[in-house]
Amino acid sequence: MFLFCLFSFIMTTPKLTFAYKRGADTIIADRMRVMGVKESMILLMLILAQGFEYSRTCQCDQKYFCNCSSNELQQVPKVPSNALGLDLSFNQIVSIDINDLSPYIALKTLNLHRNKLKFIHKEAFKSQRNLKVLDLSSNNLEKLFSSWFHELQSLQQLNLVGNPYSTLGPASIFQSLINLRTLRFGSLSLRKVHKNGLEGLTHLEEITFIGSNLRSYESGSLKAARPIGLVSLSLQNLFQNDPGLVSKVLQDVSHPDTVLTIKDVTLTKSNSAEPFKAVREGGTKSFSFQNISTNDEVVTSFLQVMDGSPMYYFGFKDVHLVGEGWWQNASYTHYKNLHTAYICNLDIQGFFGFSSMIQLGFLLMHLHKVSVINSTVFVIPRRTTSLLKNLEYLDLSQNLLSDLTIEPSLYTGHGAYQNLNTLNVSQNVLKSLRLMSRLVTNLKRLVYLDLSHNSFVSMPEKCSWPSTLGFLNLSSTKLRRMTACLPSTLTDLDLSENDLTVFNQRFPQLTTLILTGNRLMKLPQGELLPSLHTLLIQRNALRMFNGSSLRRFKNLQYLEAGYNNFVCSCEFVSFFKRDVGRFIALRDGRSNYVCDTPFTLRGYAIESVRLSVFECYMIPAVSVLCSVIIIVLGLIVVTCHKLHVVWYLQMTKAWIQAKRKPAVGRLAGEIRYDAFVSYSQHDAEWVEEILVPELESAQPSFALCLHKRDFQPGRWIVDNIIDSIEKSYRTLFVLSEHFVTSEWCRYELDFSHFRIVDEHNDSAVLVLLEPIKKETIPNRFCKLRKIMNSRTYLEWPEDEEKRGEFWSNLRAALQRDEC
Ligand SMILES: *[C@@H]1O[C@H](CO)[C@@H](O)[C@H](O)[C@H]1NC(C)=O
Ligand SMILES: *[C@@H]1O[C@H](CO)[C@@H](O)[C@H](O)[C@H]1NC(C)=O
Ligand SMILES: *[C@@H]1O[C@H](CO)[C@@H](O)[C@H](O)[C@H]1NC(C)=O
Repeated sequence: MFLFCLFSFIMTTPKLTFAYKRGADTIIADRMRVMGVKESMILLMLILAQGFEYSRTCQCDQKYFCNCSSNELQQVPKVPSNALGLDLSFNQIVSIDINDLSPYIALKTLNLHRNKLKFIHKEAFKSQRNLKVLDLSSNNLEKLFSSWFHELQSLQQLNLVGNPYSTLGPASIFQSLINLRTLRFGSLSLRKVHKNGLEGLTHLEEITFIGSNLRSYESGSLKAARPIGLVSLSLQNLFQNDPGLVSKVLQDVSHPDTVLTIKDVTLTKSNSAEPFKAVREGGTKSFSFQNISTNDEVVTSFLQVMDGSPMYYFGFKDVHLVGEGWWQNASYTHYKNLHTAYICNLDIQGFFGFSSMIQLGFLLMHLHKVSVINSTVFVIPRRTTSLLKNLEYLDLSQNLLSDLTIEPSLYTGHGAYQNLNTLNVSQNVLKSLRLMSRLVTNLKRLVYLDLSHNSFVSMPEKCSWPSTLGFLNLSSTKLRRMTACLPSTLTDLDLSENDLTVFNQRFPQLTTLILTGNRLMKLPQGELLPSLHTLLIQRNALRMFNGSSLRRFKNLQYLEAGYNNFVCSCEFVSFFKRDVGRFIALRDGRSNYVCDTPFTLRGYAIESVRLSVFECYMIPAVSVLCSVIIIVLGLIVVTCHKLHVVWYLQMTKAWIQAKRKPAVGRLAGEIRYDAFVSYSQHDAEWVEEILVPELESAQPSFALCLHKRDFQPGRWIVDNIIDSIEKSYRTLFVLSEHFVTSEWCRYELDFSHFRIVDEHNDSAVLVLLEPIKKETIPNRFCKLRKIMNSRTYLEWPEDEEKRGEFWSNLRAALQRDEC
């Protein structure tokens, strides 16, 4: 925590210096000097808190672009010093001081649009040698200083519009900006433009100039060293108020290589067209109006003034026209170079009077390219179409053409449209694809046809098309089913945003197919599309694709198939992760390929899915598992059999039962034998021939229990053993090598041993027939070992003389205790 605080303190130190420098804040810094440590700490915490707030308001992305827009910031905030972009737009920053930007030497973009900047220190940008884009628009800068720009040799774009400076010049301001390409300059406050204003801008390609309230303009001011590629002038009422001044401006910017746009103007007085003479004389080839309000009268005088101009391109965008297109007073004029007319968002007040353009033949007959977009066009009368003999390109998109009006509008009589290469009727209200196909069949050179955003809904079974047609756009036309209507000559087909579920037509020349936004569940068959190069099929219902479906496309290179309902089977996931790149390039980024099923994987990128071996090989895995279980069970059964486990279990059960029997049960009356003799079959001879006669004939005689003689036939042997032991006072073990290897004996031993241990009596008597080394007793006979360790045993002597002693000892051992 402490370290963190210390770190933050170091980070915010420049802010302290900054606070010290400013008038109002000087007091704080002064106080800090006289204050005690405690107060300073509190103050420090406050400043730190401020620091944190700043860092929270800016969001820096991986590309080191920091967005601090719209945060009511009053100062340049602290951001990482390696920031490449800094967006401070829409804040309340009033000033930029010398050190505010000094840490950010890597900065390429700085946006200060719409703050309250009044003051920028002369050297504020001295570290920004890498800055390429600087936006200071919509602030309060009343004066511009060339010293700001001294170090900005890399600057390419500068925006200074919307500041209250009133003059440009007389001294050149921009001469350090040797790489500037784009300059936006001017405001409603600009009154005076001096010569040399643009001096030094040798690379300028584009200028936007706002000078609606200009009072004085020195000729040559906007004339750059080389003609500027794009000039856009926003002059508002200046055309009406001071046409002379506008002429001077236009003289400077008109040039055959300059694309000139006049913006935000009202042209309603007939004299307001006068200044365009300069445009004609300058040889301007490309000229546009944008955001203008005008009438028939001014358009007519504009056409008259521009008579004989080399104008090639004429643009008319966001225009409010009061009139009905009666421009025939200009019909003697010459526009033989006019090639392209681009009209967009034209709002005609006298819309219904504006029906036939026959009187505009002098303009129309030269045109090669015409766009009339979003301008409430509902028909082109037949008489007008016959003027369009040279037309190659016609864009009537976003209008009101319907099945009723499209027929005259595409009338091909009198040689109309015989050169038409591109027709765009996108976003109209057409409903019949059959009609459309019939009409365009007459367009013998048609290659591009855009019918998108109409409501065709269905396709006829058969259609006719021009044999040249290569590009067809039927996007968003509510189609439900494909038929043989579509021409097989196509190279590009856009069927996106429809309701298609099946794609089943053959297109031998098709290279690009767009099926995005339909309901296809499978990729189209590759055999139908032998030339296909690019396939876009995002947002359908594809469940998967695999090597064999992709291999059927002979030439496919690019696929975009994200946002489908992929079934993340093991097969598909592993194909997608490992092999898909061998067939095609996924152009839309792998992260857009997301699983839909199974439910547990829904929403996960296929790329990130990990399926376990078990999930992937369910059937083999289950079979293997079952086999293993069966084998293990088999092994267990065999082992149990081998190890007599069942026997052990039964033994244990019997033993537990025996243990449960109250000891009281062993009353003297129940004990029938003196001893139960436990012996191996190999020692039967000794037991039967020597031991039994000796003991049973002794005085008093001992009652012995032998399994051979006394076990009840038909009873289970363990029960017999237990029974015998229960009924015997003692258990006599005849130990020999054979005994040790005999399993039976072991059980008996186990049993008696339990009892021996349990009851702490000495019911076991051991007789050793031959010497047994304890080490030779197998480990599993641990009980025997234990007993031999814990008890003395009687050894059967080889020597006949010692046998008397043996017998007396044995008798003594078997003697019942008198109670
Ligand atoms: C269009 O021009 C008028 C002045 O003629 C201006 O007030 C308006 O802001 C301009 N509109 C746009 C979108 O630039
Ligand atoms: C047709 O017009 C629409 C809408 O203006 C446009 O998006 C589309 O690109 C145009 N098509 C062609 C082929 O120019
Ligand atoms: C087809 O038309 C739609 C809608 O106008 C447009 O977005 C799309 O880009 C066009 N397709 C092609 C291939 O130009």
